[in-house]
Amino acid sequence: MATSTLADTTAARTGTEKFAGRDLISICDFSPAEIGYTLDIAAAMKKNPGNYSHALAGKQIVLFFEKPSLRTRITFEAGMSQLGGVSFFVDQTASRLGAREPLSDMARNLERWVSGVVLRTYAHETVTGMAGHAAIPVINALSELEHPCQALADLLTLRENFGRDLSKIKVAYAGDGNNVAHSLMLVVAAAGGHIVVATPKGYEPLASIAAQAKALAAQTGGKVEATNDPEAAVTGANAVYTDVWASMGQEAEAAERKRIFMPFQVNAKLFSKTAPGAVFMHCLPAHRGDEVTADVIDSKASVVFDQAENRLHTQKAVMLLLLGGESGC
Ligand code: CP
Ligand code: NVA
Repeated sequence: MATSTLADTTAARTGTEKFAGRDLISICDFSPAEIGYTLDIAAAMKKNPGNYSHALAGKQIVLFFEKPSLRTRITFEAGMSQLGGVSFFVDQTASRLGAREPLSDMARNLERWVSGVVLRTYAHETVTGMAGHAAIPVINALSELEHPCQALADLLTLRENFGRDLSKIKVAYAGDGNNVAHSLMLVVAAAGGHIVVATPKGYEPLASIAAQAKALAAQTGGKVEATNDPEAAVTGANAVYTDVWASMGQEAEAAERKRIFMPFQVNAKLFSKTAPGAVFMHCLPAHRGDEVTADVIDSKASVVFDQAENRLHTQKAVMLLLLGGESGC
């Protein structure tokens, strides 16, 4: 399905029928109300998974991944199985999608065979290109621009720790202004929270994403800020989030990035500036000693494995809604 714009999706729409056939390429593909509804379904699935064991019977998804994955692949495949559907994984690490045949031809084949497509790609345009030609839902399982499935799981984790009302919650992200930072900014803004992204100069989030996040915050009462000062960002924060300094595909820059990003390392000294009861978050995989120290990620404040678990529940909710399954049967 063609990508919807922020303006198209800001109307509050709830109910499973409003989701069927749509894509999840950006957090902006769901309105703030739809994000809330999706997380309500995810929470219900987490509580009573057995109620949904046939919800996607007769449906199939195919996953094409140009990059490695542990969490995303397993949670989509296990999630589909738990919903009574079937998944197929295609290792696409040897060649980029679109190299063997045009994406449009791939899309016009896939829509005749399966119920949905899940893509992990380098170029974001590969995901939008597939969605533009396929009549079936396309889900972004990470592109260079966004990681919306991660952000939905992160928001469920924030809700579990701080309640549904995030209007008094400050989330600080320290590190690279990358795909994970982009989707986190959008989802926290959509939830009406306060997000501060601290990056080195030259590694800020894209201005276009920051503008989308600010537009969402203007609707929800949230707040979006950017800084180059990690200490200012984490001071008084309720959650501190970081991600790898060199994303997949940036391995050649790893040594240079390590030097540049070291002042943004989330260590015990930086984490001590947070509010009482603050949590530490990371999408994983993590590099202890680089973006986070072991005494933080392995501390009681860390909720990284709850985030990883919530990938399963939130992606099950997304698949149920987009593939038009039966909820709460
Ligand atoms: N967080 C995340 O997407 O993990 P994987 O790369 O293992 O899928
Ligand atoms: N920013 C990281 C996230 C991995 C889940 C990457 O793109 O490699």
